[in-house]
Amino acid sequence: MELPFAESWKIKMVEPIRKSTREERERWIKEANYNVFQLKAENVYIDCITDSGTGAMSDRQWAALMLGDESYAGATSFFKLKEVITRLTGFEYVIPTHQGRAAENVLFSYLVHEGDIVPGNSHFDTTKGHIEGRHATALDCTIDEAKDTQLEIPFKGNVDPKKLEKALAEHADKIPFIIVTITNNTAGGQPVSMQNLREVRAIADKYKKPVLFDSARFAENAYFIKTREKGYADKTIKEIAREMFDLADGMTMSAKKDGIVNMGGFIATRREDWYEGAKGYCIQYEGYLTYGGMNGRDMNALAVGLDENTEFDNLETRIKQVEYLAKRLDEFGIPYQRPAGGHAIFVDASKVLTHVPKEEFPAQTLTVELYLEAGIRGCEIGYILADRDPVTRENRFGGLDLLRLCVPRRVYTNNHMDVIAVALKNVFDRREQITRGMEIVWEAELLRHFTVKLKPAGK
Ligand code: F0G
Repeated sequence: MELPFAESWKIKMVEPIRKSTREERERWIKEANYNVFQLKAENVYIDCITDSGTGAMSDRQWAALMLGDESYAGATSFFKLKEVITRLTGFEYVIPTHQGRAAENVLFSYLVHEGDIVPGNSHFDTTKGHIEGRHATALDCTIDEAKDTQLEIPFKGNVDPKKLEKALAEHADKIPFIIVTITNNTAGGQPVSMQNLREVRAIADKYKKPVLFDSARFAENAYFIKTREKGYADKTIKEIAREMFDLADGMTMSAKKDGIVNMGGFIATRREDWYEGAKGYCIQYEGYLTYGGMNGRDMNALAVGLDENTEFDNLETRIKQVEYLAKRLDEFGIPYQRPAGGHAIFVDASKVLTHVPKEEFPAQTLTVELYLEAGIRGCEIGYILADRDPVTRENRFGGLDLLRLCVPRRVYTNNHMDVIAVALKNVFDRREQITRGMEIVWEAELLRHFTVKLKPAGK
């Protein structure tokens, strides 16, 4: 008999979590203005709001913390981190930052100007924010197939080469670079194939434009290339990652995801001009160039985390857990972005809460219902997160409206996945009775989902 699959680690330290009553949760979510970002984490039972900075570090990472060099300039921790990044990516220049959006801020301060257009595949919200905040346009060139949640294709995060080529043909002079997000978070943690990265590179070369990877989940992307793309089964994750980065000029990284640290990020590039152009902004916004917003100890832990999480076993354990949750949802017929993504399951709220009008934000409504049901915190990746159109100020209802259930790395067991699946099933079973959604009481102009205040519609 074939042995069943099990985790590639064992548990050395635990953190208690607490259940609550529905009555308590009704009070807490009301106090939080029906916005899960405003809940106290202690009032959450299973926290799937993000996989960012919420992973469990390994014993080797904790050991590395103790050896952190906290020197202001020239710390050994920086050189350790730089060595690992250069080895994995081939990028010679490294600027540490305190997290991914800080890397965006530093690099885009140099590269993005008013009136620019930055084409890419579903820019993440902070990436979009850093582009739009500079009065430039984030142009989404994701393949149309990504919008059909029930379509099962292996690389649903891909850039549509036709859309990209059209953008370049029409606006080349306004385009500072092309950005490819690996994996494509907003489209459901969906990977981008090596073939597609090669196509993007060819188009970029034709128009002499650089390519930037938003690399928050690059290791998960490499895992999908290994397991889904022809010709990669026998390559190691590290070999695949290197081949991916060979197709880019540089990367921004939120190390809180595939670096498995609680805080950290960086820019890495092979272009001296990018490094020279961005480094002053690092000093201005983040800190001196050999720490840029990170502690020495955190750079040490990140160096180990990057090395560990570009090993197959670690990634297999993770992706199989996300797949496990997906299989449980399949049993109950709950629709989600198929196939299961790398870091999360994205439930298709518009197919669940069919009676809630889009103006009342179905995915946000489902997020609140799931919290009320069992204290599980997911988050909306949908119409609220999409913000208003910067020109017309209308809500943007053109994209998907999803409830994202992130799975933190090395944190929960499959028993927790079972609780999530059954809680969602209970909401799913009473979906016909849910006819009203949420109404906005107050919202910020940009990145409104973090601070939006809501109330139940019509009440
Ligand atoms: N790029 C992608 C693809 C991301 O998913 C994120 C963050 C960032 C950039 C920004 O990085 O948080 O370190 O500043 N995503 C988190 C999430 C917050 O929940 O998906 P950061």
